[in-house]
Amino acid sequence: METKQMKKLAVLVSGVGSLLEAMIRDNLPIDFVLADRSCRGIDIAQTAGIETEILPRTFGKTFDRYGYTLETIKVLKSRHIDLVIMAGYMTFFAPVMFKHFGKRITNIHPSLLPAFKGDHAVRDALEFGVKITGTTIHYATEELDNGPIIAQEAVPILDNDTVETLWERIKVVERRLYTETVRKLLKDV
Ligand code: GRF
Repeated sequence: METKQMKKLAVLVSGVGSLLEAMIRDNLPIDFVLADRSCRGIDIAQTAGIETEILPRTFGKTFDRYGYTLETIKVLKSRHIDLVIMAGYMTFFAPVMFKHFGKRITNIHPSLLPAFKGDHAVRDALEFGVKITGTTIHYATEELDNGPIIAQEAVPILDNDTVETLWERIKVVERRLYTETVRKLLKDV
């Protein structure tokens, strides 16, 4: 009788890791957590007994994006990873990553894409004065904050919102939506 192979899931983090924390709490079968720097996300994974690795990068003109991307692919391949989930991961990979993983690498962005791409999506939405923003989960491609959308959810902006209060309300949605979405994706990879 044929048994269905368990798919191997990696989560990539650079920061606080509250989305990763929610995934762990909701028992997503995470095999590996990779970071591009020391961060709380790595500590959370280690506390949960998940295998981790930090692949430190340089910043500025010396950063070899292509070489770093190849190193990352090598690490993920050596662990036989099927699905790569970026959750607050701050390094933008060279195109070779997306050639390799295709529709097996996702990202989450705190705005309703294609609005407010980039590192300051929450601040930009607030400054622009839109009344609704939200979150987008999409397949990652070689274009920043682009790629086919998998799931989206709106979050209203309140009159007295600051970047901190708004981002936290967006993250409350993200913690549920990303976990649900990854669970569905795991069935398809
Ligand atoms: C999320 O808002 C996500 O959309 C963005 O980075 C944030 C990650 O939050 N890409 P955390 O580090 O998991 O708390």
